[in-house]
Amino acid sequence: MRELILEMLRQEKHISGEEIGKRLKISRTAVWKHVNELRKMGYEIQSSPKTGYTFKKSTNLLLPEEIEDGLNAQIMGKPVLYYNSVSSTQDIAAEMARNGASEGTLVIAETQDKGRGRKGRSWVSLPQGGIYLSLILRPNLMPSQVVQIPLIAGVALTKAIRETVSLQPMIKWPNDIIVGKKKVGGILTEMSSEIDGVNYVILGIGLNVNMPASVFSEDISNIATSLIDECGKYTSRVKLVQSFLSEFELIYTKFLAQGFGSVRDEWKELNNTIGSRVKITEGMTDIEGEAIDIDNDGFHQRRCIFEKFSSID
Ligand code: BTN
Repeated sequence: MRELILEMLRQEKHISGEEIGKRLKISRTAVWKHVNELRKMGYEIQSSPKTGYTFKKSTNLLLPEEIEDGLNAQIMGKPVLYYNSVSSTQDIAAEMARNGASEGTLVIAETQDKGRGRKGRSWVSLPQGGIYLSLILRPNLMPSQVVQIPLIAGVALTKAIRETVSLQPMIKWPNDIIVGKKKVGGILTEMSSEIDGVNYVILGIGLNVNMPASVFSEDISNIATSLIDECGKYTSRVKLVQSFLSEFELIYTKFLAQGFGSVRDEWKELNNTIGSRVKITEGMTDIEGEAIDIDNDGFHQRRCIFEKFSSID
């Protein structure tokens, strides 16, 4: 009911409580209660005895109603499960996947108190400051091919940022999104698999949007940044999420049909790693060298400068 009222308020310039009630077959008091709920959710809705209700402004929250409104995707973001606060969206999504949730299910939260990054690091997740989401995927791939998913997600995320904000972020191999030399976003891919197939993949995206990097501890703020710090403007997180979901759906569909080779050129255009020195862990060995290309499996071809056996973390 609330969604229907919101849709009407969005569509009509002014509409009376009586008219809404008539269309939905509910009382004016019930309409008023729903409108107040919407106001509590952050929507700005004016009311006057003459003109009735007037929709003024959307909420800043990442509510399903907001993400679904104008979303240009058929699978990704269907459905959207929204939380104000969670431990980690990865855990919620994994539990849902174990219980049979379908591909494209999106878990999104305003904040996480145990947000995690790659290699056991934590991910700072300030309330409403960024985007913290996990997508459930069920690709028909061998487990060894799942390493390619964060690469294509990097392309989708980089394109989404470029479409929404006047910045030119790049991908730092394997899956950091950087602006200048600092990291603005990261991708965490976790999966459940058998030897011969994937049960599900949880694709986690973290992006620093409207929080200044000064909120980070000193060691993090030396290497991390946010969109607001880089472009000086508040960015609509809803637009970013919508753009990411639609870009990801396009590239994921192509990748599943034609393999990583079909999106390799796009990745190469957006990455800043080729030509630079990289450290790669192969089994127990860390190898440092110059990245010269990425192969059709998503691995870097490199010219080795030297080999060593120490941790690179
Ligand atoms: C990295 O660069 O280390 C990856 C960071 C991934 C963070 C996101 S935020 C949403 C999802 N939930 C988590 O706990 N982590 C990922």
